[in-house]
Amino acid sequence: AAPGPLAGRRALVTSGPTHEAIDPVRYIANRSSGKQGHAIAAALTALGAEVTLVSGPVALDDPDGVRVIRVESAREMLEACRAALPADVAVCAAAVADWRVEAAGQKIKKTAEGAAPSLSFTENPDILATLSAAGPERPALVVGFAAETENVLDHAAAKRARKGCDWILANDVSPATGTFGGDRNTLHLITADGMEDWPTLDKADAAARLADRIAHALTATAAA
Ligand code: C5P
Repeated sequence: AAPGPLAGRRALVTSGPTHEAIDPVRYIANRSSGKQGHAIAAALTALGAEVTLVSGPVALDDPDGVRVIRVESAREMLEACRAALPADVAVCAAAVADWRVEAAGQKIKKTAEGAAPSLSFTENPDILATLSAAGPERPALVVGFAAETENVLDHAAAKRARKGCDWILANDVSPATGTFGGDRNTLHLITADGMEDWPTLDKADAAARLADRIAHALTATAAA
């Protein structure tokens, strides 16, 4: 690993969407590009961390120097994250599908009567909440994202408490902002100490700022 303030530290980052199969040819997904998560993996690597990136299906190149584990579904993502522990820090930037359906073994066919199939949903595991409650294996610092379209800060603060993570980065993903799939992001960092507004930044710069904060937090923990 490269020298730097995170040399000798292990980081786990989730990125991208998950795909939840409906049948062998169809799936449910969301609009995550993986850009922010991949940029965070690269930024932590640049500070010397040994990074495992668990990524759903994305159209991005693997960041240099990062161990990349590719998964499809939320359940595969959780298993890959568990297998990547222990880690000093986990950053959950993936947009995990909240629900999955029982996948049909064969392609669902149209019927002569024109009756549409109905899907029955089951809740997926929450990877961020699971890592936050991982007992002795819990990373010292667990960071989540809160993509919201309204009441961004209130919802994010509530999410931090509910998930049991240390930090939440709140971002407004209402369509007008262009955050999803775009190259820039406006984030608010919520910690136990309160809330910080960050300026609108390129995703790479937001990632570098987060990596820097993580390096300071882990160094402070080590010194305590
Ligand atoms: O609940 P919501 O999906 O809005 O929470 C967002 C945060 O939780 C993100 O950090 C996301 O990566 C994480 N998450 C997760 N597993 C899920 C759902 C969300 O890790 N099943």
